[in-house]
Amino acid sequence: MSLMEWDGTYSIGIKELDDHHQHLFMLINRAFDGYNRGMGDAAVKKLLDELLEYATYHFSAEEMRMGEDAYPGIEEHYRQHKLFVNKVAELMELYKAVGSSILTSTLMFMNTWLTRHILQHDREYARYCLEQPTAPKRPTATA
Ligand SMILES: [Fe+2]
Repeated sequence: MSLMEWDGTYSIGIKELDDHHQHLFMLINRAFDGYNRGMGDAAVKKLLDELLEYATYHFSAEEMRMGEDAYPGIEEHYRQHKLFVNKVAELMELYKAVGSSILTSTLMFMNTWLTRHILQHDREYARYCLEQPTAPKRPTATA
C-alpha cells in the first residue's frame, strides 16, 4: 500500500499547486515503495534527491506566487518551508552516519509534514486568495 493517498481533502483549489502537491505525493510513494521492495540504498537515495529537488522547485514557485499576491503570511510560510529543508538535510546527514535505517523515518517525516502543511498553511494562503477581491485572476486558479 502506498504511503500517501491523494484525495480531494488535500486540494487547495489552486491547480498549479495541487499538481505540485500530487507530484510530491507520487515521489514520496515511489521512494517508500522502492525501499520496501528492497531497492538498494543508493537507488533510494537517488529517488530522495530527486524528491528534494522537486520540493525545492515547488517551494520557490509557491513563494513566488505569494510574493506576487502580496500575501501577508509569506514570512511565516517561508519559515515553514525552511524548517522542512533543514530537517531533511539533517536526516540526510544522519543517513551518511547510520545508513538506510533512517530512510523510513525521513519519508515518514515528509509524509506527516507535507499533509499538515497543505491542510494548514497552504490552505490558509488559498483562503487569502479567495478573500481578495482585487487579487489577480490567475488562469490556473480553479477556486
Ligand atoms: Fe507551502
